[in-house]
Amino acid sequence: MVAWRDAGGRLIAGPGACPHLGAPLAQGPVRCGILRCRWHGLALDGAPFAGWEPFPAHDDGLLAWVRLDEAGGERPLAQPVPPDRPRPAGAVAAVYTGTGRCEPEDVVANRLDPWHGAWFHPYSFVDLTVLNSPAEHGAERPDGLTVQVSFKVAGRAVVPVTALFTAPGPRTVVMRILEGEGQGSVVETHATPLGPDDLGRPRTAVIEAIVATSRRPGFALARAAAPALRPLMRAAAGRLWRDDLAYAERRWQLRTSGRHPG
Ligand code: FES
Repeated sequence: MVAWRDAGGRLIAGPGACPHLGAPLAQGPVRCGILRCRWHGLALDGAPFAGWEPFPAHDDGLLAWVRLDEAGGERPLAQPVPPDRPRPAGAVAAVYTGTGRCEPEDVVANRLDPWHGAWFHPYSFVDLTVLNSPAEHGAERPDGLTVQVSFKVAGRAVVPVTALFTAPGPRTVVMRILEGEGQGSVVETHATPLGPDDLGRPRTAVIEAIVATSRRPGFALARAAAPALRPLMRAAAGRLWRDDLAYAERRWQLRTSGRHPG
């Protein structure tokens, strides 16, 4: 697949092979919104051309979405429905992406297992208690897991919060801070199937949007420093996902060899 922005900033996406001889379009330059194939200069402005058809694409302001109807195998929505996020003007956002040899359900299972947090990620979390689980909810309660946990910030300094994990879609998990520092902040994790690797093992992309907010007056300074903060936020997410993808890949191995305890 190839994606770029046209002259007006609109997100364009489509097949990554040039309709002429199949050259990789993602290697072509974009000038004034026109993508040019490197091999013979074929130009695409986002409209259908010579058998090349764009995919439906949507930019929600933080994440770019592309609808792959044939690959999806599901009835598509007109456009994605992102969860509620803090207002962009009052937040700092960063996006992490990673890939694991597993299926989306293994990534979702990892995110919906908060119990592992303080054991597996002691560098980030301490004092973790799961307050309730879906089985304990009455019909009128939200279907989610509420967790009390302290984030390690520096040295022995910790920030206690209460967070709610929900799964608004089959491949999406959202963690929202309900109480404590950063109330209203959201971590939104999407597991997207990528197709098999050379050995036929499934691959899944983890695309995680971290949208941090705070009511503290000093948070305006953090917003001003957003360009410097984003790489740190991505690195913190990447450290967690190095472990969590190992978890998801192990779960896939156990499932597919009939050894998963359930
Ligand atoms: S392969 Fe792209 S223009 Fe020929």
